[in-house]
Amino acid sequence: TAGDDLVVASNRQPYRHDYGDDGDVTVDRPAGGLTAGLDAVMRRVSGTWIAWGDGDADATVVDEDDRVTVPPDGDDTYTLQRLWLDDAEVEGYYYGVSNRVLWPLCHAALGTVESCGDAWADYRRVNDQFAAELAAASEPGDLVWLHDYHLALAPQQVRERTDGASGDSTPNRTLAHTWHIPWPSWDSFRACPHREEILDGLLGNDVLLFHVPRYCENFLRCAERGLSGAEVDREAGTVTHRGRTTAVRAAPMGVPADRIREQAGSMEATGFCAAFRKNRGIDRDTRLAVGVDRLDYTKGIVERLEAFERLFAERPRWLGEVTFVQVGTESRSSIDAYRRYQERVEAAVERVNDRFATDDWQPVVYTTDMISNEGLAGLYREADLAVVSPIRDGMNLVAQEFVAAQDDDPGVLVLSDQAGAHDVLGEWTVSVRPHDTVWFADALDEALSMDERERRRRGNALADYVTDNDIESWVGTVLGTVAGLGHADGGVT
Ligand code: UDP
Ligand code: G6P
Repeated sequence: TAGDDLVVASNRQPYRHDYGDDGDVTVDRPAGGLTAGLDAVMRRVSGTWIAWGDGDADATVVDEDDRVTVPPDGDDTYTLQRLWLDDAEVEGYYYGVSNRVLWPLCHAALGTVESCGDAWADYRRVNDQFAAELAAASEPGDLVWLHDYHLALAPQQVRERTDGASGDSTPNRTLAHTWHIPWPSWDSFRACPHREEILDGLLGNDVLLFHVPRYCENFLRCAERGLSGAEVDREAGTVTHRGRTTAVRAAPMGVPADRIREQAGSMEATGFCAAFRKNRGIDRDTRLAVGVDRLDYTKGIVERLEAFERLFAERPRWLGEVTFVQVGTESRSSIDAYRRYQERVEAAVERVNDRFATDDWQPVVYTTDMISNEGLAGLYREADLAVVSPIRDGMNLVAQEFVAAQDDDPGVLVLSDQAGAHDVLGEWTVSVRPHDTVWFADALDEALSMDERERRRRGNALADYVTDNDIESWVGTVLGTVAGLGHADGGVT
């Protein structure tokens, strides 16, 4: 019904369809925390999700408005509406501004930020295309929920398209925006080209959400310093700019904990692990450590391998006893920084294996194979430890997925203090600083040596947190925040 629906927008779509010559349709799920989490939400509350339609356009399953009902399995469905972009737009908007400028900038990797040039015009134009779709797909009173750094300008552009359009006092759209990556300090953010326009775009929202309070504080500071005329109320957590007040709030994202627990205990999970050990030549009684990441230079995979190298060199009792399994998914490979990173990861894996491998044991098993959700959950459960060591990460859902997948003999989470996840889970993990190799190797030793009682004590506390603060609870927090503003709530509270 008009006026109480939820309309969501993100760059990445949750399902990609490709069509073979024989008419077969293959459905792929992209790797990444945002789409996995939001799909679980949309299955429950329904509504429309607008996203870039990478994949084949000549679909038989879509209607004339490029809408497709997803997901392919189960009873709960929602509408996925694709926005098609040409190659030049993808290059400028997705690769150029989003991933060559904003991603490194927000992760404080200033040396990796590239020049923006004409890409900015593409970014602005594609944002406006999203805004046009959002305005058309929503009614006054609806909740529009935007996601991430690809769409920083769209909120203000939706306002321009909808404000006053209803002509009377009908309440207009409520705009909420979750920024899934870190928000940097002002000292980093001031390096952003077009920084005023980015801030102005985001302040078109009624509420702007980050995963942890640190990023909210950074944003408030950036608004204060970066936009003349913006009024920042730190206590209230609001920014007033051009007559509109935006609430800036923390809402830490969670994972579908129950579903992951179920998957981890499934026959498919057990079967996957047995086959994985067999195919990779890992003995049944060799202990496993696991890392699961998109191959992104923010994830600290190279530093993690250095820490394992030091562990094996300094604590030879682990030689032959533990294998580190790194699952890596190719990501954004047409960007040089990503290609170079993949090569560095491969070189580090080779180095550690050359140095320590024996005829019947390999220290590192590296795979870029696509692993099913059940397989991944099984691997998490099978592992004695997960090593999550980003240099910087908005939240990091792998850490929470690992926790959710454990049974009553839980593994240990080794977690970088630079991940948003550390702000919520840190006290029950073995903390590391990714660049402190000495500390990191000691931490691996500590995690591998931890007695059962301590593992359970920490594991139970972690499991309680991840279960109580799962993905549904996250949605509840976001919708509760929106409801607290006294605007539309999308009819889903
Ligand atoms: N993932 C996956 N296969 C991989 C790597 C990652 O399915 O090889 C999934 C992982 O299970 C998680 C998401 O991608 O749901 C990664 O989310 P996270 O927040 O950890 O990092 P992001 O990739 O979003 O930066
Ligand atoms: C991070 C970002 C998401 C993105 C995902 C995968 O989680 O916050 O917005 O979808 O990485 O990256 P990709 O560029 O493949 O969408």
